[in-house]
Amino acid sequence: MTPRRPSVPKPDRRIETDPAQRPGTLDECRRCPLWHDATQGVGGVGPAHAAIMMVGEQPGDSEDREGRPFVGPAGRLLDDALREAGVTRGTVFVTNAVKHFKWEPRGKRRMHKTPAQREVDACRYWLERELTRVSPRVVVALGSTALKALLQDAHVRLQDYFGKATAYEGRTILATWHPSYALRAPDTETRKRAYADIVGTLAEAKRIVEERESGKKAD
Ligand code: URA
Repeated sequence: MTPRRPSVPKPDRRIETDPAQRPGTLDECRRCPLWHDATQGVGGVGPAHAAIMMVGEQPGDSEDREGRPFVGPAGRLLDDALREAGVTRGTVFVTNAVKHFKWEPRGKRRMHKTPAQREVDACRYWLERELTRVSPRVVVALGSTALKALLQDAHVRLQDYFGKATAYEGRTILATWHPSYALRAPDTETRKRAYADIVGTLAEAKRIVEERESGKKAD
C-alpha cells in the first residue's frame, strides 16, 4: 500500500472519531484519530495460542507500510535478542499497544511521535481482544507505553517493574526496555546493557513457560 503523503494537521480539521465505537476490523477503527494519517492498522502476528506475547508501543514507518509489527530496525534487534534468548520468533505472538503509526513530518520523513495516553486507552480495545483470543501465559512489555497499556495504569514506571514477574489478570507480565532504546540510547554502554536486559527478559519468559509445561506433564 502506498503511504499517504505527509500532511500537517490544521488545528480546525475534524477527524472522524468515536471513542465508544466497537469496530469489527482495524481498518474500520475510529476510536481515536490516529487512523487518519496511517497507511493501515497493524494488528498482532503469531500463533493463535502462543504461550508468550510481546507488546511494543506502536508500528513504526516500516510496519505502517508493511502491515506487520516489528519488521523495521527495532524488529531486527528484537530478532537478534530472541535468537540469543533461545526463543523462536515464530512461536511468539508479537503486537503493539497502539495499532496505528503516529507520526509527524520532518522534511520528507515521517518521524515517530509517542502516542498520547488517551490513544493508548482507546486502543486497549484491540489489545484486550488479542489477550483474550491468544491467552498467553507470559506477556513481555517492551517499554513504558506497553506496560501502561497492559496494567491499565498510566502512572506505572518501567523501572519499578524490571526484574519482577507481575501477576495480572491470570498471566505473568515481565517488563523490559523498548528495542528502540537499545538501538538509540546515546552511549554504547547503555545500549549494550539495554540489549542484555531484553535478552535476559525473553529468556526469563521462556523459562517460566517451560517450568509451567513441565509442571503440567508431571501432574
Ligand atoms: N516499534 C514498536 O513499538 N513496534 C513496532 O512494531 C515497531 C517499532
